[in-house]
Amino acid sequence: MSSNDINENQLKYLTGFGNDFQSEDPRCPRALPEGQNTPQTCPYGLYAESMNGSSFTAPRGTNKRAWFYRIRPSVCHGPFTKYEQPFLTDNWHAFPASPNHPRWQPFLLPKDTDNVDFVDGLRTLAGAGSAKDRRGCAIHIYVCNQSMGDRAFYNSDGDFLIVPQQGELNILTEFGRMVVAPGEVCVIQQGMRFHVAVDGPSRGYILETFEGHFRLPDLGLIGANGLANPRDFLTPVALYEDRDELPDYELINKFGGSLFEAHQNHSPFDVVAWHGNYVPYKYDLRKFVPVNTVARDYCDPTVFTVLTAPSGINGGPAVADFLAISERWEVTENTFRPSYFHRNCAVEFMGKITDSPSQSATGALPGGIQPGGAQMTAYETAHGPSANATEHAFREELKPTKVFQDTLVFFFLSPLNLTLTAFGQSGCGVYDDSMHESWIGIKKHFNPTKRELALPTTV
Ligand SMILES: [Fe+2]
Repeated sequence: MSSNDINENQLKYLTGFGNDFQSEDPRCPRALPEGQNTPQTCPYGLYAESMNGSSFTAPRGTNKRAWFYRIRPSVCHGPFTKYEQPFLTDNWHAFPASPNHPRWQPFLLPKDTDNVDFVDGLRTLAGAGSAKDRRGCAIHIYVCNQSMGDRAFYNSDGDFLIVPQQGELNILTEFGRMVVAPGEVCVIQQGMRFHVAVDGPSRGYILETFEGHFRLPDLGLIGANGLANPRDFLTPVALYEDRDELPDYELINKFGGSLFEAHQNHSPFDVVAWHGNYVPYKYDLRKFVPVNTVARDYCDPTVFTVLTAPSGINGGPAVADFLAISERWEVTENTFRPSYFHRNCAVEFMGKITDSPSQSATGALPGGIQPGGAQMTAYETAHGPSANATEHAFREELKPTKVFQDTLVFFFLSPLNLTLTAFGQSGCGVYDDSMHESWIGIKKHFNPTKRELALPTTV
C-alpha cells in the first residue's frame, strides 16, 4: 500500500459548498449509474444504498450523504447482541468532576502474549454529555497489537478523529483504503464501517464527537489560505473485496455508548463505486501552515486549529477543536515566549506524538509528558509554563529560534466538562497527579520601589 493508492480529491464540502466526490474501483469501469442514484437495476448487478450524516432537511452547506453501489446491501447480517468490552464506556457520570490536572505517562501497550485488536483496544479516558442524547464528546485511546481479522467496526454515536502515535494504521473502509501513520490523522464519520490492520504494537488517541461533524475552521482576516489547506485532505478510492461464504464475519457497532455485535457470512467492504460528500479522510499534520505573531506577544492557541466540530445542526460553538503544534520559527521581540499563564473556559487535552529532548529542556513545551502520554487541564483551572521554564524565559536571548523541532503535540480543546472514567483514573496504571508540582518553585520578583526588573543572569 502506498500513498499512490489514495487520490487527492479536495474536501471542498468542508467549506460548505456540498461538492460531491466519486470513485469507482478500476476493475469495474462505469459502475456508477449515470444521471440518477437508483436506476431500476445498477451496473454489474450492484445494489444501490444510501447513507447520510445529517438530517434530510439540513441546509445544503451542512447536508451530508453518500451513495454506495455494492455487491450486497449492508442490511445482510444477523441481529445485534451486546458485545462486552469493559474499557469502552460512556460511564463518566459515575465520578465527580475534578478541577485538578490529570497527567498520564505513556499508555501501556498490550503484552506480547495478549492479542488485542483496535476494537478491543479502545479505552475511554474522559467524556462529556451523552452518546445516547447525541450531545457532547469523548476522548479515547487505543492500544493494540493485532489486526481485526474478519471483523468490521462502525460507530453510530458520532465521528472518530484518530491520531496515531505509534504504529501505522492500515484502515479499510467502505470507501476504500487509508494508511494513516504517526504524524497523520484521519476522520471516520458516524456510520462508516471500517477495519484496522496493524503491524505490531500500536497506540494512539481518538476524539469522538456526538454531534455535528469536523470541518475546517473559518479563516476570518487570515484570508483564503493558511492553516490546513483543503487540497491536502485525502479521501480513499473505491476498493471492493468479494469475499463470501465466510464462517463468521463480525460486525461490531458502537451504539448509545455500548458495543453490539452481529454476524454475517461475507465481507462488508464490497462497495464497487460510490459518490457523495460524506466520506472518510486523512491529513498529514506536517502540511499544516502555521500562522502566528511576528512582532511581539503570543497568539492564542486556536491559531493552530486543524479541524473544528461545531455543535448543533446549524453550527454553534465548537463541541471540540483539534489543534496541532509542530516545528516553526519563533521571532517575537520583548516577549515572554512560552505560552502565557492562563485560565481558559475550555478543557485542554494534550497528547504528544514525537518529542525532542533539546526542545523539552528549553521549556518550550507545556507540561512534562512523554510521547504516548497525555495531560488534561480543567476549565478555569490555572496553568502555564513551569517555574523553571519561566525563569529561563525571563532571561532568554530573544533571537529567531526554531521551536518544536522533531516535536509534534496536539490538543483536543472542548468547552465541555470532560470528566474522567475509571480507566482514566486508576484503571490505566499510568495516572499521574503530580502536575501541580511544576509550579511549586514559582518565584516572587515583585519590588514596589524598583520598576525595572534586574535578574541574576543564571537561574
Ligand atoms: Fe492551556
